[in-house]
Amino acid sequence: MIEFDEAAARSVEAMYLTPDVVSQRMRVLDMLSPKPGERVIDIGVGPGLLAHDLARLVGDTGRIVGLDMAPAMIKMARTRLAALPQAECVAGDATALDFPEGVFDAAVSTQVYEYVADMPKALAELHRVLRPGGRVLILDTDWRSVVWHSSDEARMARMLACWDGHLADPHLPAKLGPLFRRTGFTVARVEIVPMLAAQWQPVSYAAGIMRAIHGYARGNGAKYGLTDAETQAWHEDQLRLIERGEFFFSVNRYAFLATR
Ligand SMILES: C[S@@+](CC[C@H](N)C(=O)[O-])C[C@H]1O[C@@H](n2cnc3c(N)ncnc32)[C@H](O)[C@@H]1O
Repeated sequence: MIEFDEAAARSVEAMYLTPDVVSQRMRVLDMLSPKPGERVIDIGVGPGLLAHDLARLVGDTGRIVGLDMAPAMIKMARTRLAALPQAECVAGDATALDFPEGVFDAAVSTQVYEYVADMPKALAELHRVLRPGGRVLILDTDWRSVVWHSSDEARMARMLACWDGHLADPHLPAKLGPLFRRTGFTVARVEIVPMLAAQWQPVSYAAGIMRAIHGYARGNGAKYGLTDAETQAWHEDQLRLIERGEFFFSVNRYAFLATR
């Protein structure tokens, strides 16, 4: 697992300010369509970028609660939301929400549940804190959907297997529909949200994730049969492909909108 400390908070923030993830947030807001006066919880608020947009949309008669288990993330989100009195950030775990039943009109959680081992418990908690008819939007990546050009496919597969190891479930989206239904939710809409870099862009999700995967493999590669030399060779291969104009990366995120 990754520790979401101050350095990780800064790199998530930088990656989530890239145009790819800004446009993901627009899609998420469009699907959830928060209304003025609504009470919304953002589970795993992270840097607070989505919570900031939500707070402006629900206005000063609404309420946004950003919940996260990492102190560095809460600190960053609190700073971002400081000028918006309708928003607050609290420490907490997605599997044990410290709120009474039915207090929220909507819930949102992007790129969080793939880190959560006990999904039935997390969804039961969401169901409990939403009012009847309340809506929830969950977005996560299925890391099987990666298409990433490389000169050595076997080494790329080992690098991606290593990255899978930082998550509780790297393939959560494929299971999310049945998990929702078993908890008593009705799935209303599912959309695919691709992160595509058909050529190299230094300020992009692809560039950020390449840095993150490289760093993670340097510390954890041995468990997946990757030596430091092999991780370095993977990185140098990517730099060569970038130089030749042959870089290609894509991965799919999936957004589920459900109602209680
Ligand atoms: C990749 S970041 C996503 C942040 C934010 N949702 C976004 O999309 O910008 C994952 C966040 O989930 C939080 N997180 C992971 N597991 C959690 C849990 N069980 N309960 C609460 N937060 C959790 C991490 O601390 C981190 O801030």
